[in-house]
Amino acid sequence: MMESPGLLAHLSEARAETDRLFTHLDPAALYDRPIAERHRMIFYLGHLEAFDWNQMKLIGMSSSSPVAQFDNLFAFGIDPEPGQLPHDQPSDWPRLSEVERYNVGVRSRIDRFLPNAPEESVQMMIEHRHMHAETFAYILHNLDPLKKSGPTEQPLLTAPLQQQMIQIPAGTATLGMDAGSQFGWDNEFQAHEVPVPRFAMTRYKITNGEFLEFMQLTGAAPPHYWFQREGAWFYRGMFEDLPLPLSFPVYCTLDQASAYARFRKLALPTEAQFHRAAFGTKNQGEERALPWHHTQSNPGQQGNFDYAAWNPIPVNASPDTESAFGIAQLVGNGWEWTSTVFAPFPGFAPSPTYPGYSANFFDNAHYVLKGASPRTSATLVRRSLRNWFRPDYPYVYATFHLVQN
Ligand SMILES: [Fe+2]
Repeated sequence: MMESPGLLAHLSEARAETDRLFTHLDPAALYDRPIAERHRMIFYLGHLEAFDWNQMKLIGMSSSSPVAQFDNLFAFGIDPEPGQLPHDQPSDWPRLSEVERYNVGVRSRIDRFLPNAPEESVQMMIEHRHMHAETFAYILHNLDPLKKSGPTEQPLLTAPLQQQMIQIPAGTATLGMDAGSQFGWDNEFQAHEVPVPRFAMTRYKITNGEFLEFMQLTGAAPPHYWFQREGAWFYRGMFEDLPLPLSFPVYCTLDQASAYARFRKLALPTEAQFHRAAFGTKNQGEERALPWHHTQSNPGQQGNFDYAAWNPIPVNASPDTESAFGIAQLVGNGWEWTSTVFAPFPGFAPSPTYPGYSANFFDNAHYVLKGASPRTSATLVRRSLRNWFRPDYPYVYATFHLVQN
């Protein structure tokens, strides 16, 4: 049973966040598909409410649906195999007014059940919604600029940066968490310790400037969010184009990050190395909950996450995010690619009400990302949280540090 009024407030905030997102686009664009591998935007408008409603139904808390076939139509997103893109037409989807009427009906029904809903279910609704607030931002980012509007951002200026390697002594890293301690998704359980031999890691995320140099020397293809105009490189931002900010972290695929790592004769960190660098300390056995000295009540004060901005900031612009070893922005300003294939931890059990949440992706075709992007809610910022994407998926706000083993 739900006992925490704070959870209801969190759900209201999450709803406000996703409601606000849809105000940035021209309603006619809802039937566009800015990312070929994802649904048309109208799907996400219906999906957020349908997911919550379907969760309620699964735990036996439901009355009749406002539109029963929408419960199924809007139930699941897609992640097609390479070469198997969806080919539905705009006319295959309901009208905006129908979706809006469904959403109002579903939300009011859910609100009646909420006071008696299990906390676990409400947490899932909140976190699922925040996750979509981020993935919908990728979709919005790829929408025709003429069909969206929002605040423009002036890039921060920082001191020139000195990339360096920082030594991290051997130690253990605790991955995952124990059941019962706090809410987590099925793939976060159970907690287990992993020994990590000593290694070194770059102090900063790899920048656009570093990647540009690599491109110029090797002829490698540019990252997805870059384009060239009259010989000059630009970063395609959320609501504006910027002359390529050389001090921003490079948003790129794992394949591109790996090619860059080989060029530098370095490597991507494993998930365990990420944990050791981000949460480990110089005292053996002592680990932090977040890289920086934190207050759990308001982690959003540190770094570029929790919807702090639409675009990244320079890699050296948030010294207060540094880990105990002095490595910056391991959480915030872009997810961190790891070389670890997304797979279950020992003792994994699929979520009873969402069994495919993780298990559908244990296919050796997805890799773990850690940390947070500018569009990741503070709700999702916890040590055990794992994100995963295909290694060639170019739309995610993903960055990287490199290691020397
Ligand atoms: Fe979803």
